[in-house]
Amino acid sequence: MRKKLLLGNWKMNKTRPEAKEFAQGCGEMVEYAVKHGIDVGVAPTFVCLCPVIKHAPKELIVAAQNVNEHPSGAYTGEISIPMLQEIGVEWCILGHSERREYNGETSEACNLKIKALLAANMIPVYCCGESLATFEAGKTKEFVEEQIRTGLKDLTAEEAAKVVIAYEPIWAIGTGKSATKEIAEDTIGYIRSVLRDMFGEAAETIRILYGGSVKPNNIAEYMSQPDIDGALVGGASLTLDSYRGLIEGLVA
Ligand code: 13P
Repeated sequence: MRKKLLLGNWKMNKTRPEAKEFAQGCGEMVEYAVKHGIDVGVAPTFVCLCPVIKHAPKELIVAAQNVNEHPSGAYTGEISIPMLQEIGVEWCILGHSERREYNGETSEACNLKIKALLAANMIPVYCCGESLATFEAGKTKEFVEEQIRTGLKDLTAEEAAKVVIAYEPIWAIGTGKSATKEIAEDTIGYIRSVLRDMFGEAAETIRILYGGSVKPNNIAEYMSQPDIDGALVGGASLTLDSYRGLIEGLVA
């Protein structure tokens, strides 16, 4: 049985005081989620990681939005895994479509980061998803399969079992145009079949999230699908009210 997971991706939003306010206000809803056996977390910007860790209940998962695979060195503007671990961060998002588009992050680069995170006992959340053109050309599955096979290349089944996958069709991100639950399930079911081919039975324990215009009023639809284990949420994870709505939808 895979535990449900809600992860809020704050992207480049919130100042430190705003992050602190969220962290101080989320205690009851985190407790409610934990009581219902659900994992909940947020991915703040690097500068907001410390205030969230300091002021939120320890059960709230706190993820970074990126990391560099080298432990230290001449990599201006980068943050390393030991730096994240030193402040208590154990999770990290990788390969988000915005980073692929604006920062040239490739599946090969994600593969190096995923291996480095796993070696450090951290949990990678690896994002995949196709553009509108690819979707309309009917090539979603082969596109996403390539991202999965490259991003998770050379992992053992034991390592793969620790990874979280997020399927986020680019055309559904921030557009209000979410994929139907059938489309999301169809692609996520396919991703699980690829994982089964790569890692055997471990595929049954890998959590796969849907992301793309998930809101409090549609999250339950996705959760009703057998292969969808949770959601990676952008806009609707930013306010306490909306975040509470997402948790309630997940529990329903
Ligand atoms: P939205 O929920 O704002 O569409 O963003 C989805 C996303 O990119 C989460 O990583």
